[in-house]
Amino acid sequence: MGKVTPLKLAVLVSGGGSNLQAIIDACKASDYPAEIVLVFSNQPDAGGLERARRAGIRAEAISHKGFEGGREAYDSTVSGLIEHSGADLVVLAGYLRLVSESFVTRWQGRLINIHPSLLPSFKGLHVHQAALDAGVKYSGCTVHYVVPEVDSGPIIAQAVVPVLPGDDAGALAQRILKQEHRLYPQVIRWIAEGRVSTNDAGIVTVADAAAPDFAQINPVLEPH
Ligand code: GRF
Repeated sequence: MGKVTPLKLAVLVSGGGSNLQAIIDACKASDYPAEIVLVFSNQPDAGGLERARRAGIRAEAISHKGFEGGREAYDSTVSGLIEHSGADLVVLAGYLRLVSESFVTRWQGRLINIHPSLLPSFKGLHVHQAALDAGVKYSGCTVHYVVPEVDSGPIIAQAVVPVLPGDDAGALAQRILKQEHRLYPQVIRWIAEGRVSTNDAGIVTVADAAAPDFAQINPVLEPH
């Protein structure tokens, strides 16, 4: 049997790119069914670009600041770059820029994002502080398909962490980020393996995913 053709990824970043790094590392395994063909940033000094170049991956940046023609024109240029790269799936990994409706429509069903909360709770920015302020006992991260409404598309998978006494936003962010680095490469694998499907109601299922049958209580109940 021949080797399965890897799914081609375009990864869009604006910052340090630790999620990008997790995907780069996952792609190094010989049995990982995806490869990165393009890393793009709207920030020419994004750390993620350097991570890509170090790994020998094509890295491009176009600053959105002062770009002629506004968001639509910018996004259409980005779409063109992605198309030219041959990517099958567009992966937003800390891409801190709202994408236009036409960009979403162009890539819908092939455009995913990771968000550091358990959606639909805590959409938008400053999510860790919002979770702490709400007093939730668990938070986590969500990988979802992107739709025009921000942080609202079909949920593919989530990872959950406890909120611990004394947490500040930074501590919670770090605990969640560790799980992001596990979750994102896992979801990309599932998509590459053709196991992810969405029904008409926007509910995603992953074929043959192990379903845990346990529940956890936080704080842990003391025996009495
Ligand atoms: C992550 O927390 C991600 O969930 C959010 O932006 C952050 C990006 O971090 N969308 P990094 O650039 O991958 O380190």
